[in-house]
Amino acid sequence: MADPDSTDGGEQLRTPIVAVLGHVDHGKTSLLDEIRGSAVAADEAGAITQHIGATAVPLDVISGIAGSLVDPADFDLPGLLFIDTPGHHSFSTLRARGGALADIAVLVVDVTDGFQPQTEEAVDILRRTETPFVVAANKIDTVPGWRPREGAPIQETYDAQTDRVRSDLDEGLYEIIGQLSDAGFSADMYWRVQDFQANVGVVPVSAETGEGVPDLLTVMMGLSQRYMRDAMAVDTTGPGVGTVLELSEEKGFGTTIDVVLYDGSLRPGDTIVVGSEEAPIVTEVRALLQPKPLEEIRTESRFEQVDSVSAAAGIKVAAPDLEHAMAGAPLRVVRDRPVEDVIEEVQAELEEIAVETVEEGVVAKADTLGSLEAMANAAAEAEIPIVRAEVGDVAPRDVAVAETAEEPTNRAILAFNVDVLDDAADAADESEVRIFEDDVIYQLVEDYEAFVTERERAQQEQILENITRPARFRILPDHTFRQSDPAVVGVEIEAGTLRNNTTVALFEGSEPERVGQLSGIQEQGEDVDEATRGDRVSVAIDGPTVGRQIEEGDVLWTEIPEKHAKILEQELVEDLPGGEVEALNMYLEKQRDRDPFWGK
Ligand code: GTP
Ligand code: MG
Repeated sequence: MADPDSTDGGEQLRTPIVAVLGHVDHGKTSLLDEIRGSAVAADEAGAITQHIGATAVPLDVISGIAGSLVDPADFDLPGLLFIDTPGHHSFSTLRARGGALADIAVLVVDVTDGFQPQTEEAVDILRRTETPFVVAANKIDTVPGWRPREGAPIQETYDAQTDRVRSDLDEGLYEIIGQLSDAGFSADMYWRVQDFQANVGVVPVSAETGEGVPDLLTVMMGLSQRYMRDAMAVDTTGPGVGTVLELSEEKGFGTTIDVVLYDGSLRPGDTIVVGSEEAPIVTEVRALLQPKPLEEIRTESRFEQVDSVSAAAGIKVAAPDLEHAMAGAPLRVVRDRPVEDVIEEVQAELEEIAVETVEEGVVAKADTLGSLEAMANAAAEAEIPIVRAEVGDVAPRDVAVAETAEEPTNRAILAFNVDVLDDAADAADESEVRIFEDDVIYQLVEDYEAFVTERERAQQEQILENITRPARFRILPDHTFRQSDPAVVGVEIEAGTLRNNTTVALFEGSEPERVGQLSGIQEQGEDVDEATRGDRVSVAIDGPTVGRQIEEGDVLWTEIPEKHAKILEQELVEDLPGGEVEALNMYLEKQRDRDPFWGK
């Protein structure tokens, strides 16, 4: 990248950041490899700054690959910084700071595979963050019968294919355009797109053969120059601002952090403030390590120490005390400002990212702050409350917190892309706590929702099972089979469901009177457990004598304890069959005639 000190006087232009995202194995890294490889071939070794997850591609390399498609004179941006994302979640990390990081994006979709779960998730993120993007429809060389032309622009290689191959490819491309449209984006082949902010351009490419890659770079460059240029006119010599991508151990340097610097500059000796799991870390940069080009990677000296780096760039930062730095957290250079102010800025940013929690809810764990935030968003959309949200592996104390939830459905831990420590798994096994693990956020949410539905259904069933259900039935005339001990009479169910072993009541006016206990129901000589509206059955009632406490023609009821009536009316009405609701309402009406507050 341009040395900040060499661009004296003139306008500083920041390198736009391009996030590459898409479903696993659709070819994100291969695409970058292709660009890096070609770049190294087209330019001198060292022209490219390559970093774990971040590859800076200078303008001259881009125009080298794009060939006649790009005239370097049309551009004054220094190049593009590509951020590779392993799956979608790192991208959420990068997005965690409200879209400050990635300016534009490439969504990689395998043209024969189409949209997949992580493609959908990536599209959701792009929509939410309003990030302009293009689609790289990758692996066109896998269309059966494809005749490759290494590194050719798409029109040239497309024209050279047979009709059959072309129509197979078109089919895949239109499928993707359709899926984009389903996701709410108007999309078309890139050469038909005029306004890349209003429409998504689809570029057919092959990371394997390099076909279409010139087109992709041309589109990316044009998109940035046209729509991002003004935003790129910033002071890249000011105090650096960046985001921690991840932590790693480097021989001789201890814990280092991989950082995407998206504003200003960074030098050894700079005091930096880095977000951590606890209070922000204040430390001094010992070394800036820039990875050497790909083919020179050797175990011993993989990195080159540099004196300065300016935005946008990917850089490994070595400094003391970084053990508790947090992936996804901000990094800020202090330079000539009061350190307290910078600490406050970092803290404010962390709070902005911090997930809002409530008193009662599930525990959420994620690998980075960004993914935690993405998870919290998804949970909020699904109305899942979160009681505790943290970056890190699932530990026993998470289980302890989950266990204290009042609602059984909240005794759960949603773990995104983290490990479950053995003792935590044991603790969960011994308790009622369920741990959900996945590396796709929406899958996690869906699994949890399925569990909630299941638990709620089981709970309802449990309650319904133990609660007395309403029924009204009438003793038929001339249907006394036995006077008493027990009284056996023929009845017709008028409303609700009559169940065996329930208490039978009778209303004298509005006064309920218990007459006995149902000890058997028979339908056409067969014992049954229940009878519903319209059924004519004979019932045995322990207690009363026909002609005294009960008479033929009497209307009888299943006695419902007041508590049960309350639960039935307030919580279970929706789960009751229509006939039972009717019986319940009639029963409540009778009771409330006498006592308006009965069962309330
Ligand atoms: P993750 O980082 O795991 O999400 O995957 P990725 O999207 O980075 O995919 P990657 O680049 O690792 O590619 C996955 C596989 O697809 C590898 O075996 C690649 O060689 C292959 N592949 C990628 N692009 C192409 C392509 O254009 N054509 C063919 N034939 N194979 C490809
Ligand atoms: Mg990859």
